[in-house]
This record gives sequence, structure tokens and C-alpha cells, in this order.
Amino acid sequence: MDSFRDGFRPETYGDRIADVYDAMTADLPDPGDCADRLAELAGPGPALELGIGTGRVALPLAARGEAIPVTFGDFANVPVEPAEGGYPLVYVVFNTFFALLTQEDQVRCFAGVAGRLAPGGAFVLTGFVPDPTLYTGGQSVRASHLGLEQVRLDAARHDPVTQRVDFQHVLVTGDGIRLYPGAVRYAWPSELDLMARLAGLRLRDRWGGWRREPFDAASGLHVSVYEHAGVAAS
Ligand SMILES: C[S@@+](CC[C@H](N)C(=O)[O-])C[C@H]1O[C@@H](n2cnc3c(N)ncnc32)[C@H](O)[C@@H]1O
Repeated sequence: MDSFRDGFRPETYGDRIADVYDAMTADLPDPGDCADRLAELAGPGPALELGIGTGRVALPLAARGEAIPVTFGDFANVPVEPAEGGYPLVYVVFNTFFALLTQEDQVRCFAGVAGRLAPGGAFVLTGFVPDPTLYTGGQSVRASHLGLEQVRLDAARHDPVTQRVDFQHVLVTGDGIRLYPGAVRYAWPSELDLMARLAGLRLRDRWGGWRREPFDAASGLHVSVYEHAGVAAS
């Protein structure tokens, strides 16, 4: 019996956090750099975002002239019709890919993307580089924001076997305490590359940030660009 896992559903995170998501992510780097890079890769489009959320990235991209279809569904299945000729750009950013909580769902997602990606198109996936040292005794508590009127604590539980982290963003204000639960199944870049290979994709580029920073041992996140390998992996 695990009250967190028993109650947590794919929609739980988005349902609970939607109202405050944009304020909570306001400290993230300007999504403009991200939109610039994505617009270059999309060309005339259309682009397909998986896990679009509040449109934090999609709206700046749309402002650059991209058409972005919106479909409700589980993005493990990539439940959209293939665009004619395929999408020149499919993207999933800001750790959203890790919201698929099993390796099986993540592999299925890669396959679905490969089936919708245009020849020569780009599948862009960004995520954090896992760091199990963040967890002591399988848990962590971190003050991620400290203001005069509020504090945000991130409490997490880590399972290194399934590579899963269950977490609560705990927002404490004078009005009370709000809980925003979430969960990720993280994967190292090397595992993502293998998933890509299973789907007939290969890594074209990997940067340490949206300005094409080099990716190296000090990088905390990666921007990975996959493309069709040309021949199906055997
Ligand atoms: C961390 S937010 C990121 C949103 C957006 N990509 C961004 O960068 O701001 C993750 C989003 O993925 C959605 N999500 C999580 N699992 C999903 C699933 N299996 N199918 C569709 N959407 C999902 C959540 O509801 C949430 O909107």
C-alpha cells in the first residue's frame, strides 16, 4: 500500500499545478532561446509538442509562425495523425519525457515519434542529467525558493531500481500549505540513445543548453536532437 502511488495518475501533476505553473516556472531560463532553436529546426512546420502544458514554450514558438496542433491524450501513444509527409519537428522539453513512468512507455513514445517524424525531421528531447547523489537514504528535501512571504520545499523519494522519483512541491505561505505532487522516471542520455536506436532513430546533436552550449561531464541538462537513422535498427 502506497498512498502516493495508488492515487497518482498521469493527469495528477497537470491538474493540480496548472493554476500556478507559470508563476512557479518564471525563474527558468527565457523560453525565447528554446523557441529560437525549435523554430530553426521546424522550418515551415508544422511542429508537434508532446506534453504542451500551459504553452510556456509553444506560445513563443507559435509567435514565430509555427502551427501547433493540440490533441488531448497520453503522449506515450503519440495520439495524433501523422502530418502529410511527417512532422519536420517533434519536441518534448523540460523533463516532460520523464513524466512517462515506465521504460516501456518511454520506448513506445520513441516509436510513436519515429512513425510521425518527416524524413530529415528532428525529434528534440530535453531533460536533466540524473544525479542519484542528490538523495540520501532514498530521499531529499530542498528549499528551492525562499521569499519573504513564501517558501517552496521540494520533498522527494528516490527508487534507483526503477529510476523513479516521486515528489511533492510544498508551497508554504501565510494562507496555508499547498501540495503539488509529481513523479518522473528518469533516464540517462545513453539510455535515451538506445531507445532512439530501437525506434530507428539516431542522435544528430546533443547540447548542454539551448544556445548550443557544449555537453560535457559538468552539464546538468541536455538538449538532444534525434533524426531517422535511415535504416531500421535490427
Ligand atoms: C513539467 S510539465 C511541462 C509542460 C511544458 N512542456 C513546459 O515545458 O512548460 C509536464 C506536462 O506534461 C503533461 N503530462 C504528463 N504526463 C502526460 C501524459 N502521459 N500524456 C500527456 N501529457 C502528460 C502534464 O500534464 C504537464 O502539462
